[in-house]
Amino acid sequence: MNPPIDKRKIAESFSRAATTYDSVASIQKRSANHLVDILRTHTPHSARLVPFLEIGAGTGILTDLLLQIGLSRGTITDIAPAMVETLRQTYGQYPNLSIACLDGEHLALGTRFKSILSASTFQWFSSFHEPFLSYWRHLETGGVFAFCMFVHGTLRELHAATEAVGCRYPGHPLPDEHKVLSAVSESRFCIEHFSIVETPLTFPDTHTFLSTLKSIGSTNAVGSPLDPTALRRAIRLYDETYRSPAGVTATYRTLYVLARKLQ
Ligand SMILES: C[S@@+](CC[C@H](N)C(=O)[O-])C[C@H]1O[C@@H](n2cnc3c(N)ncnc32)[C@H](O)[C@@H]1O
Repeated sequence: MNPPIDKRKIAESFSRAATTYDSVASIQKRSANHLVDILRTHTPHSARLVPFLEIGAGTGILTDLLLQIGLSRGTITDIAPAMVETLRQTYGQYPNLSIACLDGEHLALGTRFKSILSASTFQWFSSFHEPFLSYWRHLETGGVFAFCMFVHGTLRELHAATEAVGCRYPGHPLPDEHKVLSAVSESRFCIEHFSIVETPLTFPDTHTFLSTLKSIGSTNAVGSPLDPTALRRAIRLYDETYRSPAGVTATYRTLYVLARKLQ
């Protein structure tokens, strides 16, 4: 069984990252843009998507894109208090947007939405069935549930380098896409789109790559601190094994899903 994900640690590390997130979140920006492209293809009339609920809004990368396509009425949420404070500073004056600090894995708002949207957040969830069922209950009939998230195979180079030197992987295991897609359909949604995109990112060296993870807020949400000697060995191996003239590579696998509540 996977070790439990510590919500307090997640909220703390994303809160610490609230001021650095935007400058390093390149894969998250790409993913949010692609999610919005999928959303526009399947639901060209944005009026049918409001009011929307956004889970794990962070600093508002997806929120900005939603506003640009005309989704100006909704509720934007995050679990990390400092992220929510950033959202309040950016969107507090928007008359039709409300902002809330909540755990999207345990949703009980007593209101319904026409869409529930999320980018690069569900990989921090411990479970999918209960939350997705609650999203189904929070949607109007015909409502859209669309999200992207990182799945198994993401940061495979870091997995391999840590395993090779006997160092514990400094994160939690990510679900594979089948598990997530099963949870979507078992929650009574009809899946209209799913796809996987692999994106190799390049960093000057492994140290910079790991610092970027920290600046994004992606730190260890399970288990105890790592042995520094083992970690140094893993970094050295990573630098040697995954280097090209452009730098070291870290691969992300992103799952995109658009589903609908039909009845
Ligand atoms: C990688 S950031 C993505 C932020 C934004 N959606 C974007 O695309 O840039 C993940 C966000 O999810 C939030 N988060 C993690 N677990 C959450 C949960 N259970 N409920 C709500 N938000 C959560 C984190 O605080 C963080 O702001």
